[in-house]
Amino acid sequence: MSDKLIEIADNDGVVRLTINRPKALNALNSAVLAELEAVLVDLERRDDLRAVLITGSGEKSFVAGADITEMRDKAPEEARAFASQALRTIKRLELLPVPVVALVNGFCLGGGCELALACDWAVASDNAIFGQPEVLLGVIPGFGGTQRLPRRVGPAMALDLVTTGRKIDANEALRIGLVNRVVPQAELEAYAEELIKQLSGNGPLAVRGAKQAVHDGMDQDLDSALALETALFACCFAGDEQTEGMTAFVEKRKPNF
Ligand code: CAA
Repeated sequence: MSDKLIEIADNDGVVRLTINRPKALNALNSAVLAELEAVLVDLERRDDLRAVLITGSGEKSFVAGADITEMRDKAPEEARAFASQALRTIKRLELLPVPVVALVNGFCLGGGCELALACDWAVASDNAIFGQPEVLLGVIPGFGGTQRLPRRVGPAMALDLVTTGRKIDANEALRIGLVNRVVPQAELEAYAEELIKQLSGNGPLAVRGAKQAVHDGMDQDLDSALALETALFACCFAGDEQTEGMTAFVEKRKPNF
């Protein structure tokens, strides 16, 4: 294991990021966030990017939250700066133009859950535990949880989780729509590989367009969002990808994107 806080593995535009602080259950401190942001700035510039996976080092934890030891003595302005750094970094992850998949391999608490909420996909191992336990520490979620959680699971369930601080298992997370899939821990990697194969086998510009339509449309009224979809749909007809995809269908072969 290297001494980097964010390990990067790159395979033909599919980039896997591993948060590497296993002794602190991959808790997010300002050093981790700074390294993650620098990595994301590099990824933003890449045209060949197809998908991004993010996970935690070790078998016990995805991310067990923001670093409590680092936060403990912060004054309000320092806490604001820490939250702003995290929000900016998490937003960069969310806005990557390709699918971002959280591989949740254990504890996914507080800031960890907030990181997963910014991903397009969340695949959890069956031992994963989710929660926003901040109120147990005398604070509220500060990395986007009070806003992204209700948008993902609805306000009633979000209020339940952020006011009780209770933890839920992977199956409850699946039932409330917090994650897309739950798989046995031993099968997490194989499932991720299959998912990435599926995502990166599709037309790359179409996948980017589909993500953009959903993300940008969510913040607009329905008519504006539908107009956005129409514009992005029409854009698909400007390049080779649509010609290849539809010609392959007519010729009864697999498209070569
Ligand atoms: N910050 C800093 N260190 C953490 C941490 C965190 N969020 N979570 C775990 N660790 C550290 C522990 O202090 C411990 O370190 P030492 O070995 O040096 O004592 C190490 O990781 C292993 O943890 P435990 O011994 O506690 O492991 P466990 O299996 O007994 O318990 C756990 C696991 C239930 C996840 C427990 O560690 C825990 O409750 N962690 C805190 C979870 C939490 O409250 N997260 C929210 C943080 S606040 C937040 O995220 C705010 C926000 O929105 C910005």
